[in-house]
Amino acid sequence: MTDLSGRTALVTGGAQGLGEGMARALAAAGAKVAVADLQDDQGAKVAESIGGAFVHLDVTDEASWDAGVAAAVDAVGGLDVLVNNAGVEITSLITELDPADVKKMLEVNVLGTSLGLKHGLRTMRPGGAAGNGGVIINVASVAATIAFPGIAVYSATKSAVDRLTRVAAMESGQLGYGVRVNCVYPGLVPTEMGAGLANDVAQLGLFESPEAAVAGVVELTPSGRLGTVQDIADAVVFLASDQAAFVNGVGLPVDGGMGM
Ligand SMILES: NC(=O)c1ccc[n+]([C@@H]2O[C@H](COP(=O)([O-])OP(=O)(O)OC[C@H]3O[C@@H](n4cnc5c(N)ncnc54)[C@H](O)[C@@H]3O)[C@@H](O)[C@H]2O)c1
Repeated sequence: MTDLSGRTALVTGGAQGLGEGMARALAAAGAKVAVADLQDDQGAKVAESIGGAFVHLDVTDEASWDAGVAAAVDAVGGLDVLVNNAGVEITSLITELDPADVKKMLEVNVLGTSLGLKHGLRTMRPGGAAGNGGVIINVASVAATIAFPGIAVYSATKSAVDRLTRVAAMESGQLGYGVRVNCVYPGLVPTEMGAGLANDVAQLGLFESPEAAVAGVVELTPSGRLGTVQDIADAVVFLASDQAAFVNGVGLPVDGGMGM
């Protein structure tokens, strides 16, 4: 069992879905966890159930990062692990793209992750408010590694998360921050987002039904099933732990082989 006792963590988008699972798994491994989200009631419930703290944090907003990270460091006693998990997916054929949707995905997935890296590194590096180094885990997607219809812009934003991860690891190493930076590429998990995607691609006529879309994904997956919240959370706990002490600047597929 991985032991994270004595460690502190912050998970963005931690009120539901994969982020909630990551917050629960980090807490189960012994970490004190700050759950950060736009959804105050739901986020506070999750935080309370794991003996952690809730902070309101909009990842697209710089002032919100300033206040949210300070509140989290105060509430859980530091920052050793940051998971940049918050993300949005808006399904569309390329020919039907709405600029507002494109901007929304760029804002949450790319700007949000960039600001998370900025504030995480500043907080964890020597002299920062936490200052002991640590680990940042970004949540990309199998969509960054394959072509799947209906999610062109989402995939582009997740490829951006992948590249942000590599450069952040390089800068952190070169400048002596003592922070490892990695990302995960989750496969399809039937959270609100994952189930919504299956419905959307069926609606667009790309598959006969949501069930056919899921079957299509499973067929492309050597492990022969969808992912679970626990599958992704376990990988995040591993990357957060000292067992991954020499794992840096990589993307870990957690997709049953779909992206190979
Ligand atoms: N579910 C999947 O199949 C899947 C697969 C690969 C990658 N991912 C990625 O995993 C992450 C979590 O996905 P999920 O399935 O749990 O999604 P979800 O929609 O169920 O949950 C997303 C959470 O992020 C929060 N959020 C959204 N915008 C935010 C903002 N501006 N600031 C703070 N919080 C914000 C939401 O309130 C919500 O709690 C996302 O980055 C997603 O792209 C999901």
